[in-house]
Parts: sequence; C-alpha cells; structure tokens
Amino acid sequence: MVIADIAQELLDKAEAELRELGGEVLSVAANVTTEEDNSKLADAAIEKFGQINLVAPFAGIIRDGMMVSPDRETGKVTRKMSLSDFQLVIDINLTGVFLTVRECAERMINHNCKGLICLISSTGSLGTAGQINYSSTKAAMSVMPKVITAEFFRRGLADKIRCVAVAPGYVGTAMVKGMNQKALDKILSQVPIGRLIEPGEVAQLVGDIYKNEALAGEVFFIHGGLRLGSKG
Ligand SMILES: NC(=O)c1ccc[n+]([C@@H]2O[C@H](COP(=O)([O-])OP(=O)(O)OC[C@H]3O[C@@H](n4cnc5c(N)ncnc54)[C@H](O)[C@@H]3O)[C@@H](O)[C@H]2O)c1
Repeated sequence: MVIADIAQELLDKAEAELRELGGEVLSVAANVTTEEDNSKLADAAIEKFGQINLVAPFAGIIRDGMMVSPDRETGKVTRKMSLSDFQLVIDINLTGVFLTVRECAERMINHNCKGLICLISSTGSLGTAGQINYSSTKAAMSVMPKVITAEFFRRGLADKIRCVAVAPGYVGTAMVKGMNQKALDKILSQVPIGRLIEPGEVAQLVGDIYKNEALAGEVFFIHGGLRLGSKG
C-alpha cells in the first residue's frame, strides 16, 4: 500500500499503524495540489509494487462560512467568504483529486493494471449551507466517476479500470469528533442510526466495491439514514 499526505507526522503515524497490521507500506509526503508531487507519487507506487490497483484520493479540507453574511440587525452584509477560503478548498478537494487520478490512471493504463479509482464525495454534495466551496467540490466528485467511466468505455478500458465515488455522511474522524458536544448532538439528532459512521465502515464499503466488479460510474452513499437535502 502507498499512502500520501502533506502532514509528515500523520503520515508517520499511519505508516506505523499499517505496519503493525502486517501490511507492506510506502509513505510519500505529497501536496496533492501540485503536478510534480502527484507524478512522483504515482511513479513511486509503480516502482515499489509494479502496479496500481486501487486509487483513493481522499485528501480534503473544509473552510466553512456563508457566501455572504448579512448582519441580523442592520440587514447589511458584514462578512463574505474570502476568495482564499473558496480557492483553497477547490485546489485541494477538486484540482488535487483531478491530478492524483490523472497521474495514477496514466500509469494504470500504461502498465496494464486492473482496478478501481474510488473518489470521495459527501452528503454535502447535495448542498449544505455554509459550505458553498466544499459542497461544490463534493458535487464534482459525484459526476467525475460518470465522466471517467464514459471516457474509459470509449477506449475499451472500462472493464479493466472502474471509477466510482463513496459519499459519507458524518464520519467519526478527528475533524468531526473534535467538535463541541452541542454541535455533535445536533448532528446526531439527524442521524437515524443514532451514531457517527466509523472510518472503518467507509473503508469496508470501498473494499466491497473493489471486489464487486459490476459496480462502475456510480456514487454510493453511507450515512446511516441521514435526512438529505439542503437545510436552512
Ligand atoms: N469526516 C467526515 O464526516 C466526512 C464526510 C464525508 C466526506 N469526507 C471526506 O473524507 C476525506 C477525508 O476526510 P477526514 O474526515 O478523514 O479529514 P482529515 O482532516 O482527517 O483528513 C484529510 C487529510 O488530508 C490531508 N491534506 C490536506 N491538504 C492536503 C494536501 N494539499 N495534500 C495532501 N494531503 C492533504 C490532511 O493532512 C489530512 O490528513 C475528505 O475528502 C472529506 O471531504 C469526510
């Protein structure tokens, strides 16, 4: 397995945990927004393992805020989402994924690999207030599998390289677990199964899709029955 992240300490921790489980691991520090790092990452995978079978470009960030925030008393806009908060989310969650997928797909085709490209969307893809940047990138993750599958189909590659997306609801990663209890309780009140999705349950879904070769071009939600759609 090849793992990549921009944060060296997280990479070291993940590498140590995976080694403990007995896996062969190569970790590569990479900023997914650069062509150079993505190219190096894909080359490193081929060099080490000779093939790429599962691509999971999951790096992603949030920079939440209303597009425009009118003051409740005066009615006048007092705050706006900054261009940098919009752009950074696009750069990492959308451009970064495009670059990782492009570089890995090139190697997969050139090295005659069979496998799956699994993007990560979100229930936010359906539109969440305060996340115009994030929701836009996750909506893009929902359509990319269809585009990529259609392109591979044109070249007779779709039976060898499939592309899908998984779309989680609220997952108990550090980001979500670090929220204050009141915000977390509000989230959980909307989740029929009454708990956060475990990261391992998302990983299990990716593994199941990898094994089931009938699945291609689709988005698979995993949200515990969450009420979907935009809420004010
Ligand atoms: N946690 C959830 O509830 C949830 C729900 C739906 C979708 N997702 C998606 O799952 C993915 C992982 O989210 P998470 O909850 O594990 O968040 P996380 O913050 O724990 O993990 C994101 C990782 O991306 C890395 N990263 C950030 N910028 C990078 C860059 N430029 N280059 C390389 N790595 C970079 C970070 O260092 C971090 O380790 C994201 O794409 C997120 O949008 C999460």
